[in-house]
Amino acid sequence: MKVMVIGGGGREHAIVKKIKENPEVTELYALPGNGGIAADAVCVDIAAKDVAGAVAFAKEKGIDFAVVAPDDPLVLGMVDALEEIGVPCFGPDKKAAIIEGSKVFSKDLMKKYNIPTAEYAVFDDMEKALAYLETAPVPTVVKADGLALGKGVVIAETREAAKDAVRSMMQDKIFGASGDHVVIEEFLTGPEVSVLAFTDGKTMKPMVSSMDHKRALDGDKGLNTGGMGTIAPNPYYTEEVAKECMETIFLPTMAAMNKEGRTFKGCLYFGLMLTPNGPKVIEYNCRFGDPETQVVLPLLESDLLTIMRHVSAGTLEQAEVKFGTGSACCVIMASEGYPKSYEKGFPISLPENSSRIFVAGAKTKGGQLLTDGGRVLGVTETADTLAAAIEKAYATVKTVQFDNAYYRKDIGQKALAAEG
Ligand code: AMP
Ligand code: GLY
Repeated sequence: MKVMVIGGGGREHAIVKKIKENPEVTELYALPGNGGIAADAVCVDIAAKDVAGAVAFAKEKGIDFAVVAPDDPLVLGMVDALEEIGVPCFGPDKKAAIIEGSKVFSKDLMKKYNIPTAEYAVFDDMEKALAYLETAPVPTVVKADGLALGKGVVIAETREAAKDAVRSMMQDKIFGASGDHVVIEEFLTGPEVSVLAFTDGKTMKPMVSSMDHKRALDGDKGLNTGGMGTIAPNPYYTEEVAKECMETIFLPTMAAMNKEGRTFKGCLYFGLMLTPNGPKVIEYNCRFGDPETQVVLPLLESDLLTIMRHVSAGTLEQAEVKFGTGSACCVIMASEGYPKSYEKGFPISLPENSSRIFVAGAKTKGGQLLTDGGRVLGVTETADTLAAAIEKAYATVKTVQFDNAYYRKDIGQKALAAEG
């Protein structure tokens, strides 16, 4: 079976490694992949957003199954284009990917179907947004409507800061057309949980829960990043909370998308906040999380490709989705300066057995792996307990070397404290 995976980050490396475990896979391609993924799949120089390029490649190679992992190609309709030429895919079509592609869409969906989320108002007129902020309670949260590389959310402590955020999105267009509409929403508090769930529009099978660490610095300080590390499972996500989320959020979201004629097939990502008034949705993503995937998939005992094919065929009900009882920790090793500016091109030295090191931003030159991005590696380990997984992950981090390496020292500490 010939499989291609679209994307080229740590998440895609974790997906590729897991897919490779299926003995039916004869050829495995990554578009574009990266210098580390090249050890596990054939990397093809076609950008993740290049829909026409992916379609042409799939035709040329006779690809049997495609996994579209990043948000951009999903929102652009890559799944629609591939399925049109008869290539079954894992991932939502364009109509369903809007659940991540537009915050206005997702907020209105939740309101219409009574799915718990922060109170909000939507503006397409900057003056009206600024007037609204005169009396809005602070802190308040300002979000650009469209995709903004995970940076389109500003938590404003003061009204002035909120107004600045509105002006930079709507007037200065720092996120381009994503700032044509902004959402201003209620500031929620409580522990955050990420839940990724397989769904084919009929059945919903959630994966093990996880916790991301979005801020750049220890103690959740500094700028928001794509994610500096993850642990799984998330101790705040008890069986009771899971049951409540299934009833009030997961199944209602699946039903709502069906009702809207936007059946979602793929991995639906629920970014949740466990507020004093119950679990609420902070955001939906139409894809696997990064770096959540790097801790979730190593704990998956069932075969990933089989599950993905069931999702695509609409037979998820028949698929076994089983997770081990252990824990996992992923520490992101980034380039100093990320998420702002950083240097790249430094040689990376990895330990002998680096099967659980997922490569996010690196290229090879003359056989040498070189840093090539903000997030460079996701160093992941699993163990029977969370404490042991964290210890192992940091021990492995010590065996990796590259100039300008930066990583948080406290990944998993909040979760450990919650375990008591
Ligand atoms: P996002 O890019 O949508 O994942 O948002 C980034 C982070 O901003 C989230 O992980 C939360 O920590 C925070 N955030 C987003 N919306 C809210 C909200 N309504 N209240 C409090 N924090 C929020
Ligand atoms: N780690 C957050 C995300 O993938 O959006």
